[in-house]
Amino acid sequence: MTFTDRIVVEIPPVLRGLTFDGQKGLVVHQTEGKKVDLTLADPSKFSSIEDAAKAWQTVFDAYKKERSLYPAVVGIESQDLQYGLGTNYDEACRAEGVSAIPTLPPSTNRGDVVRDKITLVTGGAQGFGEGIVRSLVEQGAFVFIADMNGDGAKALADKLNYEACITVAKSISVNVTDEASVEAMMDEVARETGGLDVFVSNAGVLRAGSVKSLALKDFQFVTSVDYTGFFICTKFASIQMALQNIASQIYFTDIIAISSKSGLEGSNKNGAYAGAKFGVIGLTQSFALELVVDNIKVNAICPGNFLDGPLWSDPKRGLFVQYLEAGKVPGAKTVADVRRFYESKVPMNRGCRTEDVMKALLYIVEQTYETGQAVPVTGGQVMLN
Ligand SMILES: NC(=O)c1ccc[n+]([C@@H]2O[C@H](COP(=O)([O-])OP(=O)(O)OC[C@H]3O[C@@H](n4cnc5c(N)ncnc54)[C@H](O)[C@@H]3O)[C@@H](O)[C@H]2O)c1
Repeated sequence: MTFTDRIVVEIPPVLRGLTFDGQKGLVVHQTEGKKVDLTLADPSKFSSIEDAAKAWQTVFDAYKKERSLYPAVVGIESQDLQYGLGTNYDEACRAEGVSAIPTLPPSTNRGDVVRDKITLVTGGAQGFGEGIVRSLVEQGAFVFIADMNGDGAKALADKLNYEACITVAKSISVNVTDEASVEAMMDEVARETGGLDVFVSNAGVLRAGSVKSLALKDFQFVTSVDYTGFFICTKFASIQMALQNIASQIYFTDIIAISSKSGLEGSNKNGAYAGAKFGVIGLTQSFALELVVDNIKVNAICPGNFLDGPLWSDPKRGLFVQYLEAGKVPGAKTVADVRRFYESKVPMNRGCRTEDVMKALLYIVEQTYETGQAVPVTGGQVMLN
């Protein structure tokens, strides 16, 4: 690989890769006006990114060995670029130095597989996405909350940061169907944290309707968010993840698509959604085959119905209300009747919850001998063949 005219956002993930500790890199934050501790050679002196990473790693490791410290601020010769390093976001912004002596031994708690990792969740402002964001923060991850609802994402990030008393989340306003918007989001990730370890493609929409009457624009809307959005986001996330892997060649990262049980079996009068969710699994398998060379694992999670979430339970626009009004559930007289009908379809007799999805997500991150899989979390409602 060679640096391109987008070198400003290509350097930070390569630097992050230099700090890889066996699980993750440090946070690499673009700064300015700080005293530079270590200047790395001009990238134009090397014929490939691989060569630059090799030379930089030698200088970097020598600095670390001599002082038992990471350089607080790294500069790049002839680029007018500098980066603060930190074990967390605030430390990287302060750029005052990080010990290179290992502290606590690794724990065997599954949640620790995301501790101090950089994660990004699209559609993170509400529903499953919000639950995933909260849970990742609880497990010690830093989370970019990326959502079209920028105000909702910001309110959630502010609340989480206030509660944690350090910066554990940042909001980004994004439309996953718009390539320029996603590229800008990933550029911001590169500048703020130097890359990411776990990307969760969760943003999704649903427009149910008969194939005989569903408007083409509704079909295309669902496809553009649920299917094309996953492609666009993976395109830009995988570039950064691949750059992070260059220095060590053992830096595993995860792309996780939130598909659905409707990605595993058809859904009556809901073809646009089920088709997109099936398609997401096809993309998952294909991207997994391609990105394995970069140590990027690509997997999908297929949750059952999140009956407590806003999609179903919103008192005005939720599916319970819509299905009651449309008479979709024979004999149902109340919202509670509709809910019971959907619960009774699940062998485990309840809707899917965020904590169920999180168990699958943490398993996927922990498991470094699997890729291209679609993990059902359906309470037994859909079983794999
Ligand atoms: N709710 C369920 O029962 C259920 C079941 C299985 C799978 N899923 C999947 O889980 C994911 C989340 O579902 P949910 O029910 O929590 O949804 P939700 O409607 O509660 O939240 C979706 C979020 O995505 C955001 N979003 C929508 N379009 C976007 C776009 N173009 N760009 C950026 N953000 C956008 C919204 O602003 C919202 O915050 C979806 O992919 C959905 O298909 C949901």
